[in-house]
Amino acid sequence: MATEPTKRLIVVSNRLPYVLESHARDKWTLRPGSGGLVTALLPVLRDRGGIWIGWSGTTEEVPGIDEIFRGASREAGYVLKPVSLTQEEVDRYYHGYSNESVWPLFHDLQSRCDFEPEYWHTYVKVNRRFADALAEDCGPDDFVWVHDYQLMDVAHHVRERGDSADLAFFLHIPFPAPDIFMKLPERNAVLTSLLAYDLVGFQTQRDRRNFIQCVRTLVKHARVRVEGHLHVVRIGEREMRVGNFPIGIDADAFARSAIAPEVEERLRSVRASYAGRQIVLGLDRLDYTKGIPQRLRAFADLLERFPEVRGRIHLVQVVVPSREGIPEYDALRVEIERLVGGINGRYAELGWVPIHYLYRSLSQTELLAFYRSADIALITPLKDGMNLVAKEFCASNVEENSVLILSQFAGAAAQLGQAALVVNPYDVEETADAIYNAFCMNQGERRYRMRTLRRNVRTQNVFWWVDSFMRAAIDKELHDFPVLEEYIPEHHEGR
Ligand code: G6P
Repeated sequence: MATEPTKRLIVVSNRLPYVLESHARDKWTLRPGSGGLVTALLPVLRDRGGIWIGWSGTTEEVPGIDEIFRGASREAGYVLKPVSLTQEEVDRYYHGYSNESVWPLFHDLQSRCDFEPEYWHTYVKVNRRFADALAEDCGPDDFVWVHDYQLMDVAHHVRERGDSADLAFFLHIPFPAPDIFMKLPERNAVLTSLLAYDLVGFQTQRDRRNFIQCVRTLVKHARVRVEGHLHVVRIGEREMRVGNFPIGIDADAFARSAIAPEVEERLRSVRASYAGRQIVLGLDRLDYTKGIPQRLRAFADLLERFPEVRGRIHLVQVVVPSREGIPEYDALRVEIERLVGGINGRYAELGWVPIHYLYRSLSQTELLAFYRSADIALITPLKDGMNLVAKEFCASNVEENSVLILSQFAGAAAQLGQAALVVNPYDVEETADAIYNAFCMNQGERRYRMRTLRRNVRTQNVFWWVDSFMRAAIDKELHDFPVLEEYIPEHHEGR
């Protein structure tokens, strides 16, 4: 295998790991962003450096924006390159096409889709803007890795410029089966765009199979063959590859941070307030794909059918605000709050309220303290690309005495399904039974299961993911890339 450290790693995603925030007039700072994609990629860039291109996170004019990001780049150890978007572009490309057309469709929730044609036009325009930003920075030897459903069309624009750079793409969310994908008005354009990459990676075999079936159904002259663990798609003279690469987390870093003194301190106070009661933890971005109402109904069913758990268990449901302003999300929040209120009103007793509901972001310390204090994690999305919360929970469970209840429709079930309690999130009674079984599970079985889960998240971690993806893309591993200090310019002007 070649080890010449010539290539730089260039990551392109809708979001950067920092979000611009204004405090007072003309006073802006950067705060760390959240979400599965950022969580996964952050340790990779930290480890090896590189360039990260993404939306600045605001539509306002920010005086000195380049200097703000240059400062953050120096601290972060990799170059952050912001792309600016107008309010109309954010409305149509991000809220619109990405999150009202593609997101619900790819999660099999067709009835929630809005296929407004203007959304697609703006999506194409914004993807071209990302391709332009890439062209300013990217050299022929670099490895470009584009991420997620907001940017499926970038390679198409890079190719239009006649550029033959190595371009790889990873889809963090599921890819739907042909009968669902066919409903997308731009189905042919989207497939053509994805086929313009050299490698397209999916989370699971199921997603990869769906994609290949869509190619076979919709792209007349495509020929597909299998080579090792990859599928090779040939159209005319051109070949590209398709594979599945389940994403991981930096499990060792989670385990280390989980025993930091400030986490221990917070943990003591969480445990003191729940003394003698088991904690069931639900932790999600506000999203209708996460199955939160179904989960609340399952918890109510548990309280109804197994009255002996009343007063001995709490559901702590943390909902992190997300995509505010999209009507479906606003309505979901109202529905969750109505359900929580109803269940608490019905089952609460003096000194015991069944559901503790938090609608806010958590600091890293709070997050780790919640992970560690939970006796049971209830992760029941209706469909999910991977679900990194499941993996973070296992990595943080250093005492190895908690139970993971996991939806069969989360990508993570393919790796963690054997040692977790796997449920169909639509089946309220089955989920309630699983909570009851977890509640009663003895220490020996808990430990055995959690050890197996932790072994998996440690071995198939984020570095393993990057390495397996890069080996498939360019026959290199992360450590073949130069460390950042060798090339970070003091004033990064692109080239
Ligand atoms: C999911 C997507 C990411 C996205 C994240 C947060 O994990 O796969 O691409 O960044 O959700 O959503 P947001 O819309 O806030 O970026």
